[in-house]
Amino acid sequence: MDRNMSFYLLTDCHYLSKECWDEGLPITKRERGDQIALKTSPQILDTFLEKIIADKTTDTVIFLGDNVNSGDMNSHREFRNRLQMLKDAGKNVYISVATHDYCSPNGEDECFQKNAVRYTAAGCEPVPFMLRSELFDFYEPFTHRNALSVDPESGSYVVKIGDKLRMIIIIDNGNGRSHCGLFEEGMKWLESEVDRAAEAGDYVLFAVHHPVIPPWEVYRHMADFELYGGYRELSALMCKKKVRAVFTGHTHVQNIRRFEGENGRYFFDISTVALVNAGGVMRKVTITGDGKCTVESVGIDKINGVDTGEKTRFDYLYELNFTGLIEHALPYVKSDYDGFLTMTDGLVPVDKLKKHKMLVKFAVSKVEKLKMSSLAKLVNAKKLLTKEQYKNAENQKALESAFVLLRHIYTGNAPFTPGTVENTVFTCAAKRLDRLTNIFNIKPLKNLIPSGSSFAQMAQDFLYNNRTGDDDFIEFNLN
Ligand SMILES: [Fe+2]
Ligand SMILES: [Fe+2]
Repeated sequence: MDRNMSFYLLTDCHYLSKECWDEGLPITKRERGDQIALKTSPQILDTFLEKIIADKTTDTVIFLGDNVNSGDMNSHREFRNRLQMLKDAGKNVYISVATHDYCSPNGEDECFQKNAVRYTAAGCEPVPFMLRSELFDFYEPFTHRNALSVDPESGSYVVKIGDKLRMIIIIDNGNGRSHCGLFEEGMKWLESEVDRAAEAGDYVLFAVHHPVIPPWEVYRHMADFELYGGYRELSALMCKKKVRAVFTGHTHVQNIRRFEGENGRYFFDISTVALVNAGGVMRKVTITGDGKCTVESVGIDKINGVDTGEKTRFDYLYELNFTGLIEHALPYVKSDYDGFLTMTDGLVPVDKLKKHKMLVKFAVSKVEKLKMSSLAKLVNAKKLLTKEQYKNAENQKALESAFVLLRHIYTGNAPFTPGTVENTVFTCAAKRLDRLTNIFNIKPLKNLIPSGSSFAQMAQDFLYNNRTGDDDFIEFNLN
């Protein structure tokens, strides 16, 4: 390549038009459970787009699917207007589509969304929605119009995004209940396209909505169907043909993993957090003339048009959803029990908790008081801590450390590396759980563990970055 080439990649925008909701419990409950911001999704997207437009060094933008939240036409029209706005600003725009982008009234296309709704103050009402078969016509300027090649079966396509760079956007049909990925003909098409790129002397990268390598070992074990279905085949192809990276979404998890196949051949699965997650970012990918590929993460500090008060963007959005809401609401169990129930309505079984007020208050106050030092004793970790660590642990609440872990589930890069108090204590707690599971042969827990693994081992994926060391940045060579 004569000059550096770069592109932005955004995924899981889950755009929800304001036309689709009135303020009220129905939309609030939906948002509480989804772990993403829905009400402010247009403002979040717009803030990122402003940043992209301001960056004159990058002229390509790729969206990786779940572009809208529930396949309704209002959201699609507004989303497409934004793509056009990018185009008018001089950007080349390409999109993938995924299961949130359409509905299947009769359950065809393996889509779990039968129809789209508008949330009213008291419930919801049906609104017009997109069918899968209509997507490529609707988004033609942002998909096949400038493609070098299109797979007729899946709609996957190849675009040239730099002097010497091709991106193959793979549309992995289905949600994996029976299929998710390319069929046999699609794989042949893919392989021939990689060969064509090589013949032309172009580098080639892949982008696909579903992950090829799971973010954590337990993900493959629990939700294999949510991975790109032919991941073994695709991994083998990438290794064989030296396709160095695939960009993925869907898990909403910020995660970079390296896959190593036979003869030391490898590739990276660069999975990007949902744009509308509290810690949502986009990736900026830069490729130099000699093939050095740098992947950075670009976030936003504020959301245009949204008043977050004293709170940071992360805190404001985090408190809308399950884990953040629990963290935010738990202190109210003691001081304002009814307020706690109102805050978490839709997430916790409010009726049951109303009946057991005293018990809940007791349990929460015990958990809140638990110090890391007491937990260390309880799980036999004290002997593994230095005197100084143990002393510090006496002033450290176990629940606060647990909340730190939860805050990093989607954003990656959890801070508890081996040797820290938290890693030692939580690993010992997981070992204790392993022992109890085996002694009492607790089947539901055993079923959670991939073969050859353990809770202690699985916990490492969440305690710190045991992957490539940084989920936000990587540099590698395409040659
Ligand atoms: Fe998604
Ligand atoms: Fe998805």
